[in-house]
Amino acid sequence: MIHLFKRFDNFQKVVKSALLVLGLLFTFPSVALDNGVQNTFWNDHSLTSATGTVMPVSLLINEAVAEEEEEEEEGEGEEEGEEGNLVPPVTNATYTEECGSCHLAYQPIFLPVRSWENLMNTLNDHFGDNAELEADTQKILLDYLVSNAAEQVKSGLSTKLLKSLPTNQTLRRITEIPYIKREHRELSKKKVENNPEVKSLSYCNKCHRQAEKGSYAEREIDIPGYGRRH
Ligand code: HEC
Ligand code: HEC
Repeated sequence: MIHLFKRFDNFQKVVKSALLVLGLLFTFPSVALDNGVQNTFWNDHSLTSATGTVMPVSLLINEAVAEEEEEEEEGEGEEEGEEGNLVPPVTNATYTEECGSCHLAYQPIFLPVRSWENLMNTLNDHFGDNAELEADTQKILLDYLVSNAAEQVKSGLSTKLLKSLPTNQTLRRITEIPYIKREHRELSKKKVENNPEVKSLSYCNKCHRQAEKGSYAEREIDIPGYGRRH
């Protein structure tokens, strides 16, 4: 019996079950009493009136335990996200080839549909570069990006990205998304813009060494010239 009490949650479960049993014991005899059945023990009114207290208390504890279990599940979910921190990797070879030569071929989950449409329709004026493509290639890549954009993937990351996006704007940069800005706010200019090996936050894989595989886990961050401490 003692080992059951070792862990607090076990203790709670024991208390919960005990109260449920008590609650039931108090409820049924009081029904029996109403039917006129004689029972000297349960005839004691102080005991039957206790039903009114024990039942609600056991219900409350039930609820508290259920809530705690829910919280635990959420907590585990977050931990898992931090451990793996995988985003769906790029699966389109043409995309990697055409959009991965100047910078990382960004995983489509990082932008909403409207941003990808905007970018793909303005490739001749692409952040000071001309990244124009043949019409059929452009169409294939647009389809790929749109069908894998943030809205299409249900994950912790896509939810956070979308939640933080201003609805009245079409951002052209992942690095302008409030959630992404927040995650990087502690990085000094020294480590990014003024770091000749990084140049700008747009070069994700300079620091996220497994970014090409879709992993942005903390343990894989290694800032050129500064290492793993950030
Ligand atoms: C000729 C080189 C080149 C090619 C090819 C190219 N880009 Fe870019 N892209 C750039 C430059 C330069 C930037 C701005 C980087 C900076 O600000 O430091 C950029 C930025 C971006 C950004 C914003 C990154 C951020 O800061 O969040 C996105 C998104 C993007 N490109 C998507 C694409 C897509 C999609 C393709 C393929 C259709 C593509 N790029 C092809 C040069 C290129
Ligand atoms: C100069 C290095 C650097 C660059 C470049 C960079 N990051 Fe980061 N990134 C970091 C650091 C440092 C953190 C914060 C890690 C922490 O504190 O948990 C971070 C956090 C993140 C996170 C959150 C990870 C988590 O554990 O929740 C994501 C997602 C992310 N970066 C994506 C990107 C993307 C996408 C790009 C490119 C558009 C990018 N990063 C560019 C260094 C960088």
